[in-house]
Amino acid sequence: MTGRITFHDLKPEGLSLHKAVISGLSRTQKSIPPKFFYDERGSELFDAICRQPEYYLPDVERAMLIQVAEEIEAHTGRQRILIEPGAGNAAKVRLLLEALEPSAYVPMDISCDYLKGAAHDLVMEFPWLPVHAVCVDYTHSLPLPSTLPEGRRLAFFPGSSLGNFEPGEALLFLKMVQKALGEEGMLLIGVDTKKPSEILDAAYNDAAGVTAEFNLNLLYRIRRELDADLDPGTFAHQAYYNQDAGRIEMHLVSRQLQRVRVNGQSFQFREGETLHTESSYKYAPDEFLSLAEQAGFKARCHWLDRQRLFAIYLFDVEKN
Ligand code: AVJ
Repeated sequence: MTGRITFHDLKPEGLSLHKAVISGLSRTQKSIPPKFFYDERGSELFDAICRQPEYYLPDVERAMLIQVAEEIEAHTGRQRILIEPGAGNAAKVRLLLEALEPSAYVPMDISCDYLKGAAHDLVMEFPWLPVHAVCVDYTHSLPLPSTLPEGRRLAFFPGSSLGNFEPGEALLFLKMVQKALGEEGMLLIGVDTKKPSEILDAAYNDAAGVTAEFNLNLLYRIRRELDADLDPGTFAHQAYYNQDAGRIEMHLVSRQLQRVRVNGQSFQFREGETLHTESSYKYAPDEFLSLAEQAGFKARCHWLDRQRLFAIYLFDVEKN
């Protein structure tokens, strides 16, 4: 017997690649938000990044989740409604399902086909689990299906996905999560720590070149989906830790002076000029605890691995 899946397609509105590219290329510092990395190919490449030895985040977080799953359950109890914004292939939640035994799982993702596949695979493995998949751009809203049963909620936001938000946006996002959780809600979140730049630089410049391919795929995607005159081969991957800002920055660097044309509009790149494609903020535990408190959460406990490479935090929604 396989479990039940309901699928809610909220047609990620405002998610226009065309608009993002035109407005992004019109800025002084050219930029495109990182959510546009994740077309089908981009999602595959991100999975491949997660298998690179230099990209320590998923391995460290996975080991921690396995180790503390029972401890988490001691705090959260079972039979919660488990909500995961940006669930992707739902790999990490598998490590918690046996221990937490949620009454329903609500994966949310921007990549609809990817989400459908993930939900299908999950119910094959966990036939007892009702899955309510929501295809949505979770950065703007967290729409919960009306068919969702009553019950205490638990949001799961692993992988340091929060790092993609600017700090002010991160605060707004956490406030939105807090609202969506409601009374007796809890948040389990994995966030990358600040650490020596050599470790961070290596993590975003893997030797196999997968992160570079992931970054460059954005240009291939633009060429595939828009009417664009653009040669991805004239751009190079760049990633480095900006210590002052506390973030990894990824850019695509133009190797030459050139014009790029998108849907009839033309944009000039100087040689060495960059298109900023991603920021990934890193938080020291005290910084993150105070951010979450500002958003209306109360810390239960948090865990760090031995090398302090990664942190997992558990919060209660602060009662008013
Ligand atoms: C999606 C924010 C978790 O910044 O580590 C990995 C994405 N980009 N390598 C990160 C990413 C390049 C990732 N997050």
